[in-house]
Amino acid sequence: MKIGILGTGMVGTTLGSKLVELGHEVKLGSRSAGNEKATEWVKTAGRQASQGTFADAAAFGELLLNCTSGGASLEALRMAGAGNLWGKVLVDVANPLDFSKGQPPFLLISNTDSLAEQIQAAFPEAKVVKALNTMWCGIMVNPRMLPDTHHTFLSGNDAGAKASVKELLRSFGWQEGEILDLGDITTARGTEMLLPLWVRVWGATQNGAFNFKIVS
Ligand SMILES: NC(=O)c1ccc[n+]([C@@H]2O[C@H](COP(=O)([O-])OP(=O)(O)OC[C@H]3O[C@@H](n4cnc5c(N)ncnc54)[C@H](OP(=O)(O)O)[C@@H]3O)[C@@H](O)[C@H]2O)c1
Repeated sequence: MKIGILGTGMVGTTLGSKLVELGHEVKLGSRSAGNEKATEWVKTAGRQASQGTFADAAAFGELLLNCTSGGASLEALRMAGAGNLWGKVLVDVANPLDFSKGQPPFLLISNTDSLAEQIQAAFPEAKVVKALNTMWCGIMVNPRMLPDTHHTFLSGNDAGAKASVKELLRSFGWQEGEILDLGDITTARGTEMLLPLWVRVWGATQNGAFNFKIVS
């Protein structure tokens, strides 16, 4: 499948490498074509990897992933172009964190709203699915690196889109019972608001290679 990734940071390149490894064609998007990190990534990721602008990546992908800085995601998606998002599944991995006052970061959006909802409202023709935002990116693509089962969450309004994302997660190694569908896009408020806890667990343990497990 052709996949467009918006974002050239650790998350975009980690997901991109895994998707290429699984046989997908991946284009990484940035504010400007020829971005240094994207160019480096293309050199290491192989023939199925390419890079360009946010608009290039969004036009290329049959499925899209938003891996941009949360405070800039709406702007990045506007640069990608609403027409390039039309009718496509858009996996939103971003968190609306503000690091401008140092560590720990605070949430720019919370309680009665979420970044995922703002993206869905701004681009109503895209099928936004919030996923994978509650863990370090190494675990996103290699869930079996942890010694126990653990959970990842889905939020979105379109059942078909969530089924496609579930399939993608299964291909990363997530087991059926580890993928918890929370409901519509408003449920992303919960997973985005897990981040203040995530950063404090990381601060206390100095280890980002952990995840949440729901036990009942
Ligand atoms: N790090 C993790 O393990 C992890 C885990 C879960 C979720 N997340 C979330 O995943 C997202 C990506 O994280 P990251 O650490 O890989 O990268 P990041 O540094 O948060 O974001 C990098 C991307 O954001 C774009 N960007 C920054 N400012 C922008 C602006 N003003 N306008 C348009 N685009 C802008 C950059 O564009 P250029 O390419 O042009 O520079 C780049 O592609 C974040 O929302 C983060 O909260 C991260």
